[in-house]
Amino acid sequence: MGERRGRIRQALRRSARASGIVALLFSLGAGAAQAPSNAQLAGAELNRRVEKLLRQMTLEEKAGQLAQYSIGTPTGPGTGRDDYETLVRAGAVGSLFNVVGARETNHYQRIAMEQSRLKIPLLFGFDVIHGHRTLFPTPLAMASSFNPALVEQAMRMAGAEASSEGIRWVFSPMVDIARDARWGRIIEGSGEDPYLGAAMARAYVRGYQGKSLAEPTSVAASVKHFAAYGAAEAGRDYNTVDMSELTLRQVYLPPFQAAVAEGAATVMSAFNSLNGVPATANPQLLTGILRKEWGFNGFVVSDWTAVQELVNHGIALDGATAARKALTAGVEMDMESHLYGPGIPQLVRSGKLSQAVVDEAVRRVLRVKFALGLFEHPYADEKAAAYVATAEKRELARRVAEESIVLLKNEGGVLPLSTSGRKIALVGPLADSAGDMLGAWNGKGDPKDVVTLRAALERRLEGKAQLLYAKGTGILSHDPSGIQQAVKAAEASDVVIAALGEDASQMSGEAASRTRLGLPGHQEQLLQALAATGKPVVLVLFNGHPLVLENAQAHARAIVEAWHPGIEAGNAVANLLFGDVNFSARLPVSLPRSVGQLPLYYSQLSTGRPAGTTDLTRLPRSTGEKYISRYIDEQNSPLYPFGYGLSYTTFDFSPPVLSVPVLKAAAVKKRGQGVMRVKSQVRNTGKVRGTVVAQLYLGLRGASTAQPVRQLVGFERLTLAPGESRDVEFTLGFQELSFLDANAARVVEPGTQYELWVGDSSEATQHARFAME
Ligand code: BGC
Repeated sequence: MGERRGRIRQALRRSARASGIVALLFSLGAGAAQAPSNAQLAGAELNRRVEKLLRQMTLEEKAGQLAQYSIGTPTGPGTGRDDYETLVRAGAVGSLFNVVGARETNHYQRIAMEQSRLKIPLLFGFDVIHGHRTLFPTPLAMASSFNPALVEQAMRMAGAEASSEGIRWVFSPMVDIARDARWGRIIEGSGEDPYLGAAMARAYVRGYQGKSLAEPTSVAASVKHFAAYGAAEAGRDYNTVDMSELTLRQVYLPPFQAAVAEGAATVMSAFNSLNGVPATANPQLLTGILRKEWGFNGFVVSDWTAVQELVNHGIALDGATAARKALTAGVEMDMESHLYGPGIPQLVRSGKLSQAVVDEAVRRVLRVKFALGLFEHPYADEKAAAYVATAEKRELARRVAEESIVLLKNEGGVLPLSTSGRKIALVGPLADSAGDMLGAWNGKGDPKDVVTLRAALERRLEGKAQLLYAKGTGILSHDPSGIQQAVKAAEASDVVIAALGEDASQMSGEAASRTRLGLPGHQEQLLQALAATGKPVVLVLFNGHPLVLENAQAHARAIVEAWHPGIEAGNAVANLLFGDVNFSARLPVSLPRSVGQLPLYYSQLSTGRPAGTTDLTRLPRSTGEKYISRYIDEQNSPLYPFGYGLSYTTFDFSPPVLSVPVLKAAAVKKRGQGVMRVKSQVRNTGKVRGTVVAQLYLGLRGASTAQPVRQLVGFERLTLAPGESRDVEFTLGFQELSFLDANAARVVEPGTQYELWVGDSSEATQHARFAME
């Protein structure tokens, strides 16, 4: 069946090319419908209820189900509307968002359930991105854990907290692959790699949606932003995206596909245009790929005013046309544009929009409402106890933070720190800034629940060592007057902890692109002044963007990338700094040496003139050193590579051993999974217990399309006692070994050669090779 579909697809492609249609053909063609992505939404009884309700609805009520408004703190430009109660009463709203709290959501729900004609419950949404009240580290930080099971657990807690307040829909996970550190939203996703991104995407969906959407603690996920938003040109938010179908499918779509296959109930369309067609009115993406290829049976919501923005994109002259284009492309719900509600009935009556398109959209929205059990249980429990950051919640938040914080440098073993009889200077604008620990999308997190690094150290060191605190400078301030006091504290101490970085809400997240990625304000000067004291400086970074650390690197003996770690920030960092807990996190993004290298990622394609082993730290001295893919003033490599992170111990990998020496392409295709096992022995060669993230990378040569020099195809966390060895085994199948040919068909080709590397970063060196015959 799969092969037949493949042949049909090939034939369609051939005929498309022959008839001169632009080569970019995304869809599988009609009749290639997949099994539904979410079995619950496909249930017969549920769909009978949907049809019954649909038959009773007026055109206006149908349009109402497709309209969504924000009440409360806006996360974009507003519509100017505030008559929400009237709209709900009239059945003119399907969903509200940014309404938080059981009493608040119930207030609007009562109007819908008691005063609207059909009593269709509202679906309340919210940006629960890395926690609702219990704030976990930012998604980019959580990706550093390489621990999807832990992320699933955290997001289960986040969903349950939201759901207890009537919020049954979260605008997460953000699964946009991002390779440009200038883009502020890089913190909202899982970084640069599609394999890690897909693993994390599945974890979020499982966490939010649980075993069934009907469980009262489950919330519907919204996978965003579909698609390729993370590739915004020059890292500028909302900017244009132009990319090949191969890159789209090989790099940017896999996390979306994984989330949809995991049963994600909704998808959010992106702001950007993709190859000239805005994602919010892009039938190839929304209908061709999402629905026909992947069998998506939930609904798509636009991003904030993205339907209206089709006019700005220049593909619609007015709002009505924008609404028609978005809806027919596959955007069922209009977030904040206020165009579907009033626009759809007019479009249908004037014959510009078919009733069938509207019905199908309403069906999809109602399915999710039925699946969540909203008709039976529309209200949140107002008597439930108010939120408290209990010990249990803190423990999970702390564990996630501890596993998300990356040790980048530890020269001379300056870490772990010891407590006894010492003086420690704590300096920097992020040492005691509770709000910034919550990250850019902080849900309903409360700075009062945050343990800052200063608070954690004060408690830990009380009676044992002296802590001298000085802020030194502000995050963005250019006032150097506090530096002197910080220097004094450093001079009087044995070691300095400098807590520097970025402001969480202004400098990272949405609409926070940067062109300079050093430490902002006067922080570089502060760091330099601290280093000049000669005291060892431990730099703890609290930031969103992957930063350019060349300068910081020169002045700090140790560097800890803590990101914005959530409510247990201080405790987690302190536990790591003093060695109660060992570092285990690894970078989910390459850290650049300079902004000019961006976009930067490890899985680049081979070029015709690779730099190979040429020394790129100096000017070229021969034509061989010059006419290669390089810069004359910077190296190609990152300062710290993807997958990298230190520990208080060290690990050794044996060369990979393959279960078979060669593979046959036909057999790989036929058998699908588990055609090759790759084994390596990992040994803890240091003195303390530690966790390593064993990573398997694969390269492919001799294929019909150029392939990345290497790409991640497996990872596993292993905890080993000193001296302990254990085998790690990875299994490869068609999914890992196949690639996209020039027609974007997934293939394995005979006559190709595979390279494998195993180790604990993308620069892993233990190598094996095999042929595909
Ligand atoms: C963002 C989305 C978010 C939405 C609702 C938009 O501006 O791009 O990620 O879910 O606002 O707040």
